[in-house]
Amino acid sequence: MQPGNTPLVEFRNLAPDGTKLFAKLEWYNPTGSIKDRPAWYMFHDAKEAGLLPDGKPIVEATSGNTGIGLARVALINKHPAIICLPKNSTNERKQLLRAYGAQLVEVDGGPNDAIAHAKELVAAGEGHMLYQYGNPQNPAAHEFGTSLEIARDWPLETPPGHLFCAYGTGGTITGNSRGMKRAFPSIKVHSVEEYMDDPIGGMRSQEDPFQPPVADLSLVDARWQVRKDSAIKMVEEIMTHEGYFAGTSSGAIIKAAQDALNQHGGTAVALLPDAGWKYLSGAPWV
Ligand SMILES: Cc1ncc(COP(=O)(O)O)c(C=O)c1O
Repeated sequence: MQPGNTPLVEFRNLAPDGTKLFAKLEWYNPTGSIKDRPAWYMFHDAKEAGLLPDGKPIVEATSGNTGIGLARVALINKHPAIICLPKNSTNERKQLLRAYGAQLVEVDGGPNDAIAHAKELVAAGEGHMLYQYGNPQNPAAHEFGTSLEIARDWPLETPPGHLFCAYGTGGTITGNSRGMKRAFPSIKVHSVEEYMDDPIGGMRSQEDPFQPPVADLSLVDARWQVRKDSAIKMVEEIMTHEGYFAGTSSGAIIKAAQDALNQHGGTAVALLPDAGWKYLSGAPWV
């Protein structure tokens, strides 16, 4: 099954008074995250370009979700996958990657160290790197997929005033900004980021010395940094008031959306990257 066509639902209880907040639930994708979309696009593009002859492994550096999406697309196409990820990634992510048949390489340090290691493997001739940080198919999956679905499903007469995306590789925010600004030229794009000293899985800060080449931050109108504690508190509020078990970056996104709607009013759409299942071995669930 091809990723996409995830539901757009209204968060009636968490929207500040007089505002409307819609959330696109990206955990309805085949492996449970937004990253199924770029994984599918990048794999098929490389295959069509002849960069992945049968048996040549995909090598990728990922905090988890892209790897899981790639492992699945590789598995159903009978293709090997080598995934480099930080050693401290949650066990659920590692178990899922193994379940989808990927070979795991656990790297000391953070996502930037995983990227460096994957590059070394490719330089040593171990396989082909799709490199989500620099692959134009990463934002393209959103420009020609996610954003078209939002424009199609947007239920109000008036266009959405605000779009909220997490910033990680920049694929989501870049592709959706392009597509949504085309469909709704007055929309304001909000980048939701971690603090450098308080990381949240999958997210990045514009202060990070490494800024992914695929990210076009000139499309961003406002920037919000969220503490992990506030993101987790919002995960619990989403569960209590809307009945969904969202992941930590989704908590950060809804926190920023609430703060922004409190300031500006209006209508908003938030892209929620994944659900909470993969985080059950971390705070506050243990
Ligand atoms: C849980 C989670 N949130 C947010 C993001 C950021 O999305 P993007 O890489 O498209 O910027 C990712 C990306 O891997 C993610 O896994």
